[in-house]
Amino acid sequence: MLKRFSISLDELLLAKFDDFIRLRAYSNRSEAIRDLIRKALVKEAWEADREVVGVITLVYDHHRALLQEKITDLQHELHHHIISSMHVHMDHDNCLEVIVVRGKAQQIQSLAERLCALRGVKDGNLSMSSTGGHLH
Ligand code: NI
Repeated sequence: MLKRFSISLDELLLAKFDDFIRLRAYSNRSEAIRDLIRKALVKEAWEADREVVGVITLVYDHHRALLQEKITDLQHELHHHIISSMHVHMDHDNCLEVIVVRGKAQQIQSLAERLCALRGVKDGNLSMSSTGGHLH
C-alpha cells in the first residue's frame, strides 16, 4: 500500500535535488526519493553483514599461466556462494568473467577481494545489491 508523507527541505537543497532529478532523468521527486531510500537500505544490509547478492566483474590476462584455473578453483571452493558465472573472451589477450554471488555480506566481500587480488587480474569490481526482500 502506498503511503504519503511530506518532507520539509531547505530551498537551496531542494533546488539541488531537482537538478539531480533532471540529471538522472527521474520522472518525479517521489521516484527519486524511493530510489535513494532503497540504496540506503542496500548499503545498510552490506554494513550489517546481512544476506545479500552481488556481481563480481573481473577483467584478466588470458595468457597468465594458471590464472583461469585459480579463478575457477576459488569458485568451486565457495560454490555455495556462486549463483552463476559467465566468461567472455574479450579480445586476443583479455578475458571478462562476470560472477553472480549470494551470501553474508562479509563472506561475499572477502571472496571478491580474493578474486581481485589474484595476479593477472587487471580490473576487479564488486557491485553490491540486495536479495530484494525489503526493496518493495
Ligand atoms: Ni577468455
